[in-house]
Amino acid sequence: ITIKIKDRDGVVHQVDAPTDMAMNLMEVVRSYELAPEGTIGVCGGMAMCASCQCYVTSDHQLPEMSYDEDLMLAEAFNVKDNSRLGCQIQMTEELNGLEVELAPEV
Ligand code: FES
Repeated sequence: ITIKIKDRDGVVHQVDAPTDMAMNLMEVVRSYELAPEGTIGVCGGMAMCASCQCYVTSDHQLPEMSYDEDLMLAEAFNVKDNSRLGCQIQMTEELNGLEVELAPEV
């Protein structure tokens, strides 16, 4: 699938994300090096750090948040209505055309 990711400098990157490798959005961002090492995916994708927070700007219907994601976002900084944890968003066909913006580094 193709998704658009706006990095923390405001630059939009259109990238290809595989749906057959059990990859999540945080891992896609890391694989394209769209955020400096150590500023995203700090907890390794356990919904325990919010370094992978992003804002979903397209109108895709994402899977419901898990309890852990909800709890983490309740404590994170710069949270908006469209905030999600990138590590909790699996790449699936339904997300083709997804547009997200990385939340500021904290
Ligand atoms: Fe830590 Fe997503 S990588 S919450």
